[in-house]
Amino acid sequence: MNAIVPIGPNRKRKGITGAISAVASKTPKGMIPQVRRPEFEFNTDDMPRYWWDNNPVKTLLLAAMSAGFPPGERFFIDSVRYFEKEITDPELKKAIKGFIGQEAHHSREHEMLNGFLQDKGVNLARLEKEILGFMNWMRKNLSPERQLAHTVAVEHFTALMAEEFLLKYDALEEMDPRMAPVWAWHAVEESEHKAVAFDVYKAIGGSEFTRVTEMMLVSVLFPFFTTMHLTQLMREEGQLSNVKAWASTLNYMWGKPGVFRKLLPSYFKFYSPNFHPWNHDARDLVEKAKKKWLGDWA
Ligand SMILES: [Fe+2]
Ligand SMILES: [Fe+2]
Repeated sequence: MNAIVPIGPNRKRKGITGAISAVASKTPKGMIPQVRRPEFEFNTDDMPRYWWDNNPVKTLLLAAMSAGFPPGERFFIDSVRYFEKEITDPELKKAIKGFIGQEAHHSREHEMLNGFLQDKGVNLARLEKEILGFMNWMRKNLSPERQLAHTVAVEHFTALMAEEFLLKYDALEEMDPRMAPVWAWHAVEESEHKAVAFDVYKAIGGSEFTRVTEMMLVSVLFPFFTTMHLTQLMREEGQLSNVKAWASTLNYMWGKPGVFRKLLPSYFKFYSPNFHPWNHDARDLVEKAKKKWLGDWA
């Protein structure tokens, strides 16, 4: 695998004056992401090959996303850590530590999950390598402000996926019971830390132009790469012409119940100057999911 390129210390921070703005955050007081360290067991011979709803499209969609987590989450951590020393608010400093701890453990568990799937013949290593190459390109070529804006944008996507899809609908119930807890745990923590990168971005005076334009780019690149990787995995599995699986997944995402269609209004709220991740409070869903899926790790 390619080596990770560090964020260059000599990168110019375009568009930032250096003054740290005191912006009131809407993050609830005391909302410090809790670092849990669960260890999931994937190495079971009887795990169905298509562990979400016995559907190759649904399963390989999550597999393709899982391939992106280890390089992506390391990038998120580094983009926040770059500005950590400039943060003076003690609560936000604690939240950064929680964010880093949670994302680091997500990477670790998804590496295990990806290794398990790789052993089953799902070639996620190639995908992971490609995504790492793209992350390294961003590390070398984008300003630290834009790299943080990238994290802010993707964190909004992951919070939407976590709260308004995984925790709200019955996706977790449709998964193999050994696979569901890892996705439930990841979704819970994505919701808990959804505002950390955003609050750091506001605290360092990150520009609205960069925040919004980066979301526009992410909105093109993320679905494009995910669909491309899903199609490649489907072809490698010999499932590309499985019309029934494609049709039922498309219907699930965009028709009935239309889980992706229904999260579009929340997605567009990101473009408002008044946007804050905690304008949408999903703590009731998170509490229910913690009780149901996390057991002793809650
Ligand atoms: Fe994560
Ligand atoms: Fe995250």
